[in-house]
Amino acid sequence: MEKFVINGGKPLKGTVRIGGAKNAAVAILPAVLLSDEPCIIENLPEISDVSALLRAIDFLGAKIRVIDKSTVEIDPTTVNSFVVTKRISEGMRASSYFLGALLGRCNKARVAPPGGCDFGVRPIDQHIKGFEALGAKVTIENGMIFAKAPSLVGSSVYLDVVSVGATINIMLAAVKANGLTVIENAAREPHIVDLANFLNSMGANIMGAGTGVIKIRGVRHLHGASYSIIPDQIEAGTYLVAAAATGGDVTITNVTPKHLESIIAKLIETGADITEYDESVNIKMTGRPKKCNVKTMPHPGFPTDMQPQIATLLAISEGTSIVTEGVWDNRFRYVEQLTLMGADIQVDGKSAVITGVPRLKAAPVRAVDLRAGAAMIIAGLMAKGTTTVEDIDHIDRGYENLVEKFRELGADIKRYDDHSELNIVKNA
Ligand code: EPU
Repeated sequence: MEKFVINGGKPLKGTVRIGGAKNAAVAILPAVLLSDEPCIIENLPEISDVSALLRAIDFLGAKIRVIDKSTVEIDPTTVNSFVVTKRISEGMRASSYFLGALLGRCNKARVAPPGGCDFGVRPIDQHIKGFEALGAKVTIENGMIFAKAPSLVGSSVYLDVVSVGATINIMLAAVKANGLTVIENAAREPHIVDLANFLNSMGANIMGAGTGVIKIRGVRHLHGASYSIIPDQIEAGTYLVAAAATGGDVTITNVTPKHLESIIAKLIETGADITEYDESVNIKMTGRPKKCNVKTMPHPGFPTDMQPQIATLLAISEGTSIVTEGVWDNRFRYVEQLTLMGADIQVDGKSAVITGVPRLKAAPVRAVDLRAGAAMIIAGLMAKGTTTVEDIDHIDRGYENLVEKFRELGADIKRYDDHSELNIVKNA
């Protein structure tokens, strides 16, 4: 069992380069299956979710050539299967995108139900509603989701909830369908726009991505393309919050500041001094953060994937803050861990009342999911003394080279493997 060991209490200082966006990469990689020619994907983050997707694409029969650590060429012309089993998809949330991509490619897909972080119930009824509107029949057979259509025909789909996954899956299935598909009440996240840009660069005809109404006119063929994934908004936000939480002075590079607006706005409310440049952002913080209320919402609202991190910063604020979760039913499971470090947080349904304390205390804690894990790292960096964070495989799903990046900023953080007799330090 691997864990992070952090000796906290030092302000972060320096520059950190942000990698490609996880939630764009996990949509764009399955989208390559729709192409009739090889594609080159650049700026892929070095995270375990991307490795798992590449393994699944390889298993489906595609040829993959790794060009460098963040670039691959994928030739989907040799794909000879439409089945993604549980063993192949390894409990990823994004495995559901093989449903849309394989339906779009060969009019059928058999995929294990998606996994991912545990935030309570994570239904995919809106994905299925979209596939059915396009003419597919969707059944559950032997625990697998089976979608099949004689042919896919464009249609209008109104999403009952703003869903990133359903918007992406319907785009994937509709891009080669006959006629026009209209997705209403679509998600507007930057990764939706990135997927549309990638598909359009292959010859698709998608309009309106980034607004609540996306129009997709089906095309017969998609050609190969070379495409660079956008920077990760959540990785960027996590480093900004870590800098603020430690009273640091950090510049994040390779970012799109516009994608960070809601995060930057809240950090300014807490007293951070922020300067935006074309592709970088500097943050400086002195003293304790001010209290501030946060409500998570679909884009352009404050992202739910930054909720545990900002709550951790507010745990040491002057005054009482209220953080309300507007996307997931249960995204406060990390609060118990923060309480072990001395935070004073009361959760009542979808809100957490955070009474700031002067400082957190180092303690052994767990990453209960991906962003909760990021919050534990931030807490460990804030607290004087030694914090250990266990169950870090969750964190590896979404943060590339985390130890190296924080060490570059002056943090004392190491990765230990309990099974190693010598307790060898990796990534030191
Ligand atoms: N929902 C439904 N029915 C559906 C789909 C969603 O009721 O068919 C509900 C969900 O229960 C939730 C809300 O709609 O209450 C939003 O869910 P959404 O479908 O947007 O989430 P997702 O596509 O499963 C993606 C990200 C999550 C991120 C959410 C919200 C990926 C792989 N995952 O999940 O990212 O929290 O959008 O922005 O893109 C993370 O990166 O840590 C992460 C969890």
